[in-house]
Amino acid sequence: MRATESYFPTLREVPAEAEVISHRLMLRAGLVRKLSAGTYSYLPMGMRVLLKVTQIIREEMANAGALEVLMPALQPADVWKKSGRYDKMGPEMIRFRDRHGKETVLGPTHEEIITTLISGELRSYRDLPKTFFQIQTKFRDEARPRFGVIRSSEFIMKDAYSFHRDEKSLDEMYKKMYAAYTRIFQRCGMNAIPVEADTGVMGGDNSHEFMIPASCGEDFVVRCKACSYAASMDKAAKKMTPAGAAEPVVPKNGDACPQCAQPLEILPGIEVGHIFKLGTKYSTSLEAMYLNEDGKQKVFIMGCYGIGVTRIIPSIIEANNDEAGIRWPVSVAPYTVVVIPVNPDDAVKQAAESLYHDLQKAGIEVLLDDRDLSGGVKMKDADLIGFPLRVVVSNKTLQQSAVELKVRTEPQFSLVPLSEIVSRLKSIQN
Ligand SMILES: Nc1ncnc2c1ncn2[C@@H]1O[C@H](COP(=O)(O)OP(=O)(O)O)[C@@H](O)[C@H]1O
Ligand SMILES: [Mg+2]
Ligand SMILES: [Zn+2]
Repeated sequence: MRATESYFPTLREVPAEAEVISHRLMLRAGLVRKLSAGTYSYLPMGMRVLLKVTQIIREEMANAGALEVLMPALQPADVWKKSGRYDKMGPEMIRFRDRHGKETVLGPTHEEIITTLISGELRSYRDLPKTFFQIQTKFRDEARPRFGVIRSSEFIMKDAYSFHRDEKSLDEMYKKMYAAYTRIFQRCGMNAIPVEADTGVMGGDNSHEFMIPASCGEDFVVRCKACSYAASMDKAAKKMTPAGAAEPVVPKNGDACPQCAQPLEILPGIEVGHIFKLGTKYSTSLEAMYLNEDGKQKVFIMGCYGIGVTRIIPSIIEANNDEAGIRWPVSVAPYTVVVIPVNPDDAVKQAAESLYHDLQKAGIEVLLDDRDLSGGVKMKDADLIGFPLRVVVSNKTLQQSAVELKVRTEPQFSLVPLSEIVSRLKSIQN
């Protein structure tokens, strides 16, 4: 892509309303723009990152055996009343009447919808187990939409739902999803911490949240430095509160780990994913059943597995940035390489053009910054947007039949012969 044919409006000023680093950088790098509190548009660079993230998620879901579907955001209130959540959801659920007066909601999640769908589809034990997922827009009228797309009122979620005949089959899928989530966050360049989470109704090892450590995180991880214990604040509090205590314990740094008595540490983090063993909660209330070998009607045993797809983007940025801007991992970068001609005369222009074509031919995603701007401005933009690799072509470099290569995460650039640059970039990319 040529910069003159693309659109990436970078901002030098820090937008006043943006409190956290990822929000500032997403606005400054021209990834997103705010429509209203809690709603954002994705500009071309942001959209490319979003597509990369969704591609990684699709691959890992397929790998875990989940099948992609798409369900409506527009939902009749009936199914929510039937499950009992129409009242429980509270003001977070957006509700209205359609032109015929029918009570309708905008879906904040899809347990009710998938369960209703599946109860008419999977009829026999032979159809089980099955797992479905979608990548779809959710609506939650958040009390405090904050930090850009980290907590917004409209966001994209990957939600998956699995259907089983027994606990053993659910356990197997739960483990596959746990592994898939670990790979997804790794591939996005993040170290997610899986923590035991509170399920409210169900006890035991039935829910995990995946947390990205970040100073702006609104959730907290309670973790042991000595053993593998890691839990959400609520879950740790429950475990540490003695039976019959009047007040629940609030876990603090240095408290004794419930598993090994060594000191605990408390880290702020962002919840990017959440997996859950639902059991028969929704299949019972919505009467979703299949026929077993004996011809008996049985309710499905279910699991559900969510990822905040749009929330992943600022989480990656929280974990990968410096004073100059974003530092995208190659796997999710809007382009892998930016080629910057500096003070271009005909020779520089030609060298940059031919490098641009060679990189495209080699299958490397490249942006040619052919804008009529100073080298300094283009390099600032490149650092701000955060392309992993930057190649500068100038008269000075051409005198040595070379270009300057800079890896975004390293302080120094190096001179690379023109004849070697494509293969060098290819090897770094992989
Ligand atoms: N308002 C929001 N904006 C962006 N992402 C969200 C929002 N609410 C939830 N998510 C993402 O969707 C995932 C699944 O949602 P869920 O666990 O149902 O949310 P919550 O924990 O807020 O009830 C969360 O782990 C989180 O990554
Ligand atoms: Mg959650
Ligand atoms: Zn411990």
